[in-house]
Amino acid sequence: MKKTILITWWTGYIWSHWVVAFEEAGYKTVIVDNLCNSSVDTLDGIEKIIWYKPDFYNVDLRDKNTLEEVFKKYDFDWVIHFAGLKAVWESCNKPLDYFDNNIVWSLKLFEVMEDFKVKNIIFSSSATVYDSSNFWKWEWVDEKWITWNTTNPYWTTKFILEQILIDLSKFSWFNVMNLRYFNPIWAHESWFLWEDPEWIPNNLMPFIMKVAKWDLGELKVFWNDYDTIDGTWVRDYIDVVDLIDGHLKAYENISEWFNTYNLGVGKWISVLEMIKKTEDIIWKKINYKIESRRKWDLAEVFCDDSKAKNILWWKAKVSLDESIRNSWKFYNK
Ligand code: NAD
Ligand code: WQD
Repeated sequence: MKKTILITWWTGYIWSHWVVAFEEAGYKTVIVDNLCNSSVDTLDGIEKIIWYKPDFYNVDLRDKNTLEEVFKKYDFDWVIHFAGLKAVWESCNKPLDYFDNNIVWSLKLFEVMEDFKVKNIIFSSSATVYDSSNFWKWEWVDEKWITWNTTNPYWTTKFILEQILIDLSKFSWFNVMNLRYFNPIWAHESWFLWEDPEWIPNNLMPFIMKVAKWDLGELKVFWNDYDTIDGTWVRDYIDVVDLIDGHLKAYENISEWFNTYNLGVGKWISVLEMIKKTEDIIWKKINYKIESRRKWDLAEVFCDDSKAKNILWWKAKVSLDESIRNSWKFYNK
């Protein structure tokens, strides 16, 4: 019998890709989302790839009773929890909303998991938990670099949820795979799923694509006098396809207690280098101007992937050139 996985917050950009990969790998997925930052149209994209729609429930995690009804219907082996809101700037404007959405509602999910004795969980954390102001220059960040010295409420929610899950692994019986992603980019190779926010994007890659397509006038580069290769921020961009593969490997290697893995490439690129690279690959001019910095930005964040490499046997494979080329295929179609 197929193993069944409950996925919370699924129809977002990363997780719709993930559903496809798990269904293709032979697992049954059941999905809950309140559609606050997504639409059921993603189901049509998924159906075009795997030829059927996975089981979907419009559930708000605040509503514990409805969540329990879903747990009664299935014998879940796993929960994949991609806890909610993720815009750093918004979290600075509405911190309490972020604490409520990301932390309080997650507790409801953990309670139901405990009641139904579902003990395996993959949690979607973020490289946001690393404070690069602590780093030596050009240092790769490994899993022990986490710090409580958070610079924004979004980060705080990830930090606190990690701590809660550590305790649940010690004092309840949860087995936790805590995955910290670096900067995810790109879309599914089928071309039915992709990252194309209708509103003005927050993240660099979709913004660059929208400028290249002339949907937006110019990119604001958030400052250029940092102690980096050309003064602009340095990041580690990971293709969604590699990220999904990392989740499959995590799933196959679940062990007891709480385990954290970085999912990133281990290579860095600055904002200006990214602009130049994109121009060279897609043959379009990217207009930009230098603006003042965002108050939460960290200068250099790139991944030490040795733990995932050595224990999960996972390594990112997709090149940045390929990610950019594939991304442009979408935006240009
Ligand atoms: P997304 O905003 O595209 O998707 C989030 C989904 O959560 C949406 O479908 C939204 O409708 C749903 N949602 C939000 N609050 C909800 C609630 N209370 N009840 C039910 N559904 C709710 O985000 P994404 O990029 O797919 O990210 C998913 C996860 O990955 C998040 O936990 C995010 O913090 C984490 N993450 C994302 C990135 C990134 O750059 N995209 C990087 C690191 C970690
Ligand atoms: C990348 C680089 C910007 C937009 C955020 C979250 C992090 C994670 C991923 C969820 C930075 C620069 C960007 C623009 C710019 N999300 N930039 N102009 O800030 O690394 O991480 O998303 O967990 O938690 O903090 O990603 O794509 O916003 O920025 O100059 O219009 O591009 O300064 O150096 P970031 P990003």
